Amino acid sequence: MKKATVTPTTNPLGGSLKAARDKSLSHRAAMIGALSQGRTEISGFSFCQDCLSTLNCLRAMGISFSLSPEEEKVIIESSGSLHEPENVIDAGNSGTTIRLLSGIAAGIEGLTVLTGDESLRNRPMRRIIEPLRLTGASIGSRAKDRFPPIFILGKNQLDSFSYQLKVASAQVKSSLIFAALRGNGPSFIEEPFPSRDHTENMLRYLGVEITKSKGRLKVTPPRELRARDFNLPGDISSAAFLLAAAILVEGSRVVVEDVGLNPTRCGFLEALREMGAKVTVGKVREDFGELRGEVEASYSKLRGIELGPDKIPAIIDEIPILSLLATQAEGKTTIWGAEELRVKESDRLRAIACGFSQLGAQVEEKKDGLIIQGGSPLKGGRVKSFNDHRIAMSLVIAGLISQKEVTVEGVDCIEISYPQFFDHLQQFGCPTIKVDFEK
Ligand code: S3P
Repeated sequence: MKKATVTPTTNPLGGSLKAARDKSLSHRAAMIGALSQGRTEISGFSFCQDCLSTLNCLRAMGISFSLSPEEEKVIIESSGSLHEPENVIDAGNSGTTIRLLSGIAAGIEGLTVLTGDESLRNRPMRRIIEPLRLTGASIGSRAKDRFPPIFILGKNQLDSFSYQLKVASAQVKSSLIFAALRGNGPSFIEEPFPSRDHTENMLRYLGVEITKSKGRLKVTPPRELRARDFNLPGDISSAAFLLAAAILVEGSRVVVEDVGLNPTRCGFLEALREMGAKVTVGKVREDFGELRGEVEASYSKLRGIELGPDKIPAIIDEIPILSLLATQAEGKTTIWGAEELRVKESDRLRAIACGFSQLGAQVEEKKDGLIIQGGSPLKGGRVKSFNDHRIAMSLVIAGLISQKEVTVEGVDCIEISYPQFFDHLQQFGCPTIKVDFEK
């Protein structure tokens, strides 16, 4: 296992760089390319570990790829049909892989069994199992349908269905949309609050009829899916760490270029503005229904805010780094209705409260959220990543503004979503981070 030792910096961060490519969109582009007939060229594919897990699973289901990591390119030639894998397939650490592929597997004749690493094997699966059963596929998982491994005995043609999600989850919604593509008629999906809509945008771009009325999606199965190329933007969830670093380190100003700005993912930018951060967006354009542009952030004085359940889906992955900003804001930040954070790569409410408190911040863990009293200087110390990439990166950024050194144990997991993280910090002029093997 590797650790990162971060020395506090007085050097302002500065410069401009192209954001790491979007993980959420990369998973979907690979899956949609596999499901469509013909050649799909994906530019701007994220070669992070989670997306490699998706490629490995699709390969086991009969899809071949030509990969060019240096050019961030993936080319898929597919007949549009996947086949039963010969063995159990491994989604690694990736919730998106296991849940979305389960929806796809429901529409494949034969047995698919998916598993993952220790963290993934403890993440809830009933949320997809219950609705996917409505399609007529047989599906179940370990511990009375709670956890992976998960099996799916699929069929070529599924029943159409109507389902109201209990939690706002793009992973569950997308899994159901993929199953709905193989339905014998239109299916209907409703969620309590809007979650990210990448799957909808990408499938519409391929001509699939997906409409939304009064919060309810209607997915009409297409007669065929013809392949189209995708050029993917950068990942706001990764860029968030760089923007936060600039906001926290005095005198900084950075620009992160070509970041995805889909409104269902931009809760972090909205929260920053509400906290009084200097953040601006420019060069906005649209591609396959997805907005993208550059984001500039500068050192700012912040104030505490309140984030409730309606705001959580659009900022779900940025709560760890937002919590760090809240520790330095004036006043209190209250986050509630966020129990979903307990079932991410780690129990993130616990990990945030534990990690930042150990560094000297005032963070109180609640059943469904956090109360953060801003304005306490971070002292420094030795903390654990909980093997969670977003916790690890948030703690590293905390080290930049602590009074003494911060050591973060278990930073290997950063490869899950953002392999360029340390390089990007260095490009912005942060030479104070040492990464080495733990003794
Ligand atoms: C994701 C959706 C979110 C997010 C995850 C990626 C996706 O999960 O936390 O990192 O790609 O659909 P939920 O929508 O299940 O909360």
